[in-house]
Amino acid sequence: MTGHFITMEGGEGAGKTTILHRVSKRLQELGLDVITTREPGGIEISEQIRHIILDPAQTAMDGRTEALLYAAARRQHLVERVIPALEQGKLVLCDRFIDSSLAYQGYARGLGIDEVFAINEFAVQDCMPNLTLLLDIEPREGLNRISANKEREQNRLDLEKMTFHEQVYEGYNLIAKQFPKRIHRINANDHIDEVEQAVYENITHYLKNNERREG
Ligand code: TMP
Repeated sequence: MTGHFITMEGGEGAGKTTILHRVSKRLQELGLDVITTREPGGIEISEQIRHIILDPAQTAMDGRTEALLYAAARRQHLVERVIPALEQGKLVLCDRFIDSSLAYQGYARGLGIDEVFAINEFAVQDCMPNLTLLLDIEPREGLNRISANKEREQNRLDLEKMTFHEQVYEGYNLIAKQFPKRIHRINANDHIDEVEQAVYENITHYLKNNERREG
């Protein structure tokens, strides 16, 4: 595959989605063929799975069911959206991917990072991101930002207690140590414009060092 697969990760309120769209626009202005997408979702089947997983009314959902549904949504999104774009040589920017499952379900829910990695290996086969940017923000600061944003709808995971979000943060720290080459940490406590610039520079630096040559 000739494209590049770049994912954005982080806890709630890190600014991932806004930054992803701003950076995508800047990369397009450089003449790059970019698509942005998100997990869980991005295509119809996975958006429907997203609706079930994040519905605040589904209080009975078991942790393993949750992990399997994320993996199922991931598989379908990969096959329908990500892989075809990579085959066409595009730059795919994805809001969350496998590391969210490792941090949220594997670590914070206590299912085990290795166990959750195993079901995700089945889902993604060998299609892992080339680069992952982890927006690093203190969980309390992230949640403050969310509550200040009145337009954002609260989902089932936002409603978890503070300790859950602290665990997610710890989980990401562990995963970043496990995959130091792929995962780059970005300080997201700064003003959003500065975080955007750091993300942009990280991606352009990666692209410069990993130009794909035909033939
Ligand atoms: P979003 O708020 O970034 O749209 O993500 C939806 C929620 O789903 C967020 O609370 C993180 C959570 N999530 C997981 O727990 N595991 C996963 O594998 C993914 C992709 C998201």
